[in-house]
Amino acid sequence: MNSGNKIIDETIQGQSLMLNPKNPNGKKLFLESYGCQMNFADSEIVASILQDQGFSTTQNFEEADVIFLNTCSIRENAESRVRNRLNDFKRVKKKNPKVLVGVLGCMAERLKSQFLEQEKLVDIVVGPDAYRDLPGLIDEAEEGQKAINVILSKEETYADVTPVRLGSNGVNAYISIMRGCDNMCSFCVVPFTRGRERSREPMSIVAEARDLYERGYREVTLLGQNVDSYLWTGGGLKKENLTPEQKEEAVSFAKLLEMVALVDPKLRVRYSTSHPKDMTDDVLEMVAKHHNICNYIHLPVQSGSSRMLDMMNRGYTREWYLDRMAAIERIIPGCGISTDIITGFCSETEEDHEETVSLMKHIQFDYAYMFSYSERPKTLAERKFKDDVPEAVKSRRLAEIVELQRQNSGIKTALGVGKVHEVLIEGFSKKSEEMLMGRNPQNTVVVFPKGDHKKGDYVNVLVTRCTTSTLIGEVVE
Ligand code: SAH
Ligand code: SF4
Ligand code: F3S
Repeated sequence: MNSGNKIIDETIQGQSLMLNPKNPNGKKLFLESYGCQMNFADSEIVASILQDQGFSTTQNFEEADVIFLNTCSIRENAESRVRNRLNDFKRVKKKNPKVLVGVLGCMAERLKSQFLEQEKLVDIVVGPDAYRDLPGLIDEAEEGQKAINVILSKEETYADVTPVRLGSNGVNAYISIMRGCDNMCSFCVVPFTRGRERSREPMSIVAEARDLYERGYREVTLLGQNVDSYLWTGGGLKKENLTPEQKEEAVSFAKLLEMVALVDPKLRVRYSTSHPKDMTDDVLEMVAKHHNICNYIHLPVQSGSSRMLDMMNRGYTREWYLDRMAAIERIIPGCGISTDIITGFCSETEEDHEETVSLMKHIQFDYAYMFSYSERPKTLAERKFKDDVPEAVKSRRLAEIVELQRQNSGIKTALGVGKVHEVLIEGFSKKSEEMLMGRNPQNTVVVFPKGDHKKGDYVNVLVTRCTTSTLIGEVVE
């Protein structure tokens, strides 16, 4: 894992044999996840609910009794991957018709019962707010009925469900702090698949962080589609209707960050995703105040053109974004910055594209996740605008910014050479068990000879050389 904050829709993860059911029912679950970190975090909720039902897990779908795909709808290719994957399960189902195939997550929510009609093989369809219903739905499906629950909730946060950490290295873990999104960016399907924004009760978040720390974890990433909008008001009160006293008492994202940071100075705190329109200086000041809140921000810009940003309904301009970048540099000097960029959004001209290029040259992001625009059904953009940038133009623009980012990443990584970095060790390096890897607070991977250090330790590494994305050096005292 290069970055704790990436969109992983190109990744398939067959998740591992970690369920340890108290009263085993002899049944095996194969659970594969797609999409963003929130979806991966949800799979850990699903695993927890099914562990309580006695399921164990398997990495081999051929021996599973229940096959679940936790799916993503963000771009068309994310959905195609799931459709292709379903084909792999056809022969399993042919051999053993009792095997149940379920589709969970965003694609389930988007397509609802259509899924059952389109993909005969699928028995169970469950949206992201209905996982508590999984045991009942599995029972129904076992009785031969098609089972579906895609009801979205205004309250569900799974606050009381302790996630089962799947495929974990025992050092880094995700904690969901909120669900849904109220933003309605015109290109985005998430508000339709995840429903309304709601914040999770803060003490349950702190308790989860503390429990992880006590079990040896040393880094948590707080997850939400727009973490800056986190607000716990106690009684489900709306932000707009709060009295000044209620506002004072409410737990904002900055306060929450501090509560988690205070669990232990040796617990690193990260978070994703920040939103340029809502990221206030008090959050940045909190990051600066606590050493263990990492100096790293994932701040998706989407485009460098204010005209595009307006059509995207992002709620900020190029100038506003640059102002936020200046605030970061002022309050957290040397902060690592990554972003998301979309090329070829509706009506994007060469001039708009050049504005994205110039913004990238100006800011020099450490890392960027770049996508060509993919029209999604029901979104504002699908209803109001024409997806009129030819595929070839979208890809050419994408290739241009990918190349520019490659150069920028190289430049930014090289700045770390000759300096000492605080590194939290995550495990062996990819290439050799003689080398360990970890990340500095800015989220750059650092590799160094093992010595007598181990996973979960903090070390200071003097970096002597680098590749485009990795720093290489030696531990110093
Ligand atoms: N909540 C986060 C992003 C969630 S989706 C935010 O507001 O920034 C992750 C990224 O996928 C987005 O930042 C965007 O760059 C990309 N994305 C979303 N919808 C897309 C679409 N229809 N086509 C291409 N990329 C898209
Ligand atoms: Fe989508 Fe915008 Fe919400 Fe992010 S903030 S999830 S891009 S609607
Ligand atoms: Fe995909 Fe849903 Fe996440 S659409 S990016 S899995 S919120």
